[in-house]
Amino acid sequence: MKLKYQLKDNNFYYTNTDISKNKFDIQDSQIIHDIEQELLIKSYEIFLDELDENTLFDENYFKNLHKRTFASLYDWAGVYRDFNMAKGESRFCQGAFVESSSKKIFEKLKEDNYLKDFENRPKEEFAKKLAYYKCELNALHPFYELNGRITRMFFDMIVIFNGYKPIDYSTITPKQYIDCAIDCVQYADKSGFEKIILNGLHKIKPN
Ligand SMILES: Nc1ncnc2c1ncn2[C@@H]1O[C@H](COP(=O)(O)OP(=O)(O)OP(=O)(O)O)[C@@H](O)[C@H]1O
Ligand SMILES: [Mg+2]
Repeated sequence: MKLKYQLKDNNFYYTNTDISKNKFDIQDSQIIHDIEQELLIKSYEIFLDELDENTLFDENYFKNLHKRTFASLYDWAGVYRDFNMAKGESRFCQGAFVESSSKKIFEKLKEDNYLKDFENRPKEEFAKKLAYYKCELNALHPFYELNGRITRMFFDMIVIFNGYKPIDYSTITPKQYIDCAIDCVQYADKSGFEKIILNGLHKIKPN
């Protein structure tokens, strides 16, 4: 039997904060942020270590990134949300359709062989594909929290598989990044992310 984790948006955060309820009842945002960062760094090491030619960047892998990274801190790690969510003027995929929309995205990704064949193909083509899926996952926004970090990690694993370093976002400001996310969700315009990704993609061993 599949157990579905039920959460209502009004009891997901500590009252009057944007801090998600956590296993240690920590309500200091700096401490939570630091712990999340530490868990993320550890998880990068683990998933990098596990990366090999048999790795499939499928839905299970994506959910597992979230689950295995944050299970020690959050009950809802790896669980898709079931309520509607918005940030600013952007409305993400409706809660009721997250599961089915996710399946469609990952079916398409499978048809693209999980972007595993880009080591020797033009970087521009790779950036275009990555931006497409990044926008799709951005609009899906499937987890209650930590979507940005896990989605970046997911694409980092894909680019590393193809002989690139993790995507470098250091040359853009947080506002530029969010503006691109807004363009994706509100205008289906993927060009901003495409540029960011193209600029941030660097081979591990330059040709
Ligand atoms: N106004 C917006 N419109 C569209 N997408 C947005 C908006 N604000 C944020 N996002 C997207 O949502 C992500 C943040 O989601 P969430 O808070 O679940 O993850 P996070 O890991 O805490 O985020 P991050 O580390 O990227 O700030 C951002 O990375 C961006 O992709
Ligand atoms: Mg967040």
